[in-house]
Amino acid sequence: MPGNAAYGCGIAYRNFFHSALLKNTDKIDFLEIPTEDYIVRARRIMTDPTGSVLREAMDAFPSVAHGISLSIGSVEPIDEGILTETRKFLDEYDFDEWSDHLTYHRMKDQDLTIFVSIPWDEVAARWVASQYNLAREIIKQPFGLELVAYGFPVAGSELSEAQFANKVAEYTDCWFLLDVCNVFINAENHGGDPYQYILDLPTDRIQHIHMAGGHYMDGEWADSHSQPVPKEVFELLDFALEHTAARAVILERDAPPREFGPILDDVLQAKEIFLKHRPEKPAPNLEELVKLAPEVQTVVEPLSLNSPPAELKNLQNYQRALVDCAFEMAVGKHDGQTAEQIINSFDLTDEWKARWREMNWKSMLKLKDKLAFIMEDDKVSARYYQMAEMHHWASILGRDAVIGR
Ligand SMILES: [Fe+2]
Ligand SMILES: [Fe+2]
Repeated sequence: MPGNAAYGCGIAYRNFFHSALLKNTDKIDFLEIPTEDYIVRARRIMTDPTGSVLREAMDAFPSVAHGISLSIGSVEPIDEGILTETRKFLDEYDFDEWSDHLTYHRMKDQDLTIFVSIPWDEVAARWVASQYNLAREIIKQPFGLELVAYGFPVAGSELSEAQFANKVAEYTDCWFLLDVCNVFINAENHGGDPYQYILDLPTDRIQHIHMAGGHYMDGEWADSHSQPVPKEVFELLDFALEHTAARAVILERDAPPREFGPILDDVLQAKEIFLKHRPEKPAPNLEELVKLAPEVQTVVEPLSLNSPPAELKNLQNYQRALVDCAFEMAVGKHDGQTAEQIINSFDLTDEWKARWREMNWKSMLKLKDKLAFIMEDDKVSARYYQMAEMHHWASILGRDAVIGR
């Protein structure tokens, strides 16, 4: 197995282009493996029940891991179970690097599976730092946080997104994954200068970059990873490589392609840009370098849910209300009600009600529509999973056992 730290230009691994990847080991520098495809049983059974296909990919490429379940911004206990499984997976396959997202999507076991913006308040930065430090004890090394594309920023935030990221950097030893497609999408959908945004981030902590192509629908961009990388995103990649410490660029493409050629073209174009700013070969001690924590770190008193300050409790109530609201709207509970009636049906402080009111309600309706679509899609996936599970057991026990003889 090659060394497992990322350098150069790689691709987010999806098993539908497994064989195409193996034919291009000379052109693709590394893979980014989606952790949950292997640690969540339903997903593993459907993709690679024995893990043998992943082994084959990892024998051919250096590989890093990327998760989606952390929900580090949720004001509730961190999911230690998923982190323990992640650590086991990192050990089993000998990964040096792992990242997840600077966002939240789950409250009280209800998971939107859609990233929403953490309010960029000081208390939220301290909460994320507290959660990061707990997670880091289980992961046992610094890990990365990806800056996400979000449907709407939370109105009335005390900080800008970049200031929030700087606070998190100050209070922890995390590194950052900058997704230049997310930078493009957020600037297009919510305004702001994407170049200045990059400069304002903790640029020396940015280690990895994602790039992808989204699609434009109903007046806004969606982070669908379904299209070739647009020119604007390549331009942001160029700028990000010039102004940050990033050493690894990853192409994300989620829709199964008709042909692999255009995907490879995007990787090769990124490589050309990468080589304008970085040497062809990484430092010889790359694996050791990626595990080193930064020297300067401000230690802050961790926040706890046992005796939460009022701002934290209020933030938690807002997050619960938002997630509950999306699920209730997705099943039609608030049909016919005004935004004001819906907001008033939740037990929030006047300040939080005012912040919610200021947000664009259209975005809330889009969140509801997206969630309703995902809930329908999950029903189909559940049926596929049942079939895949039966097939898996049939292959282990033999056909007769499955038909119940
Ligand atoms: Fe991601
Ligand atoms: Fe990404």
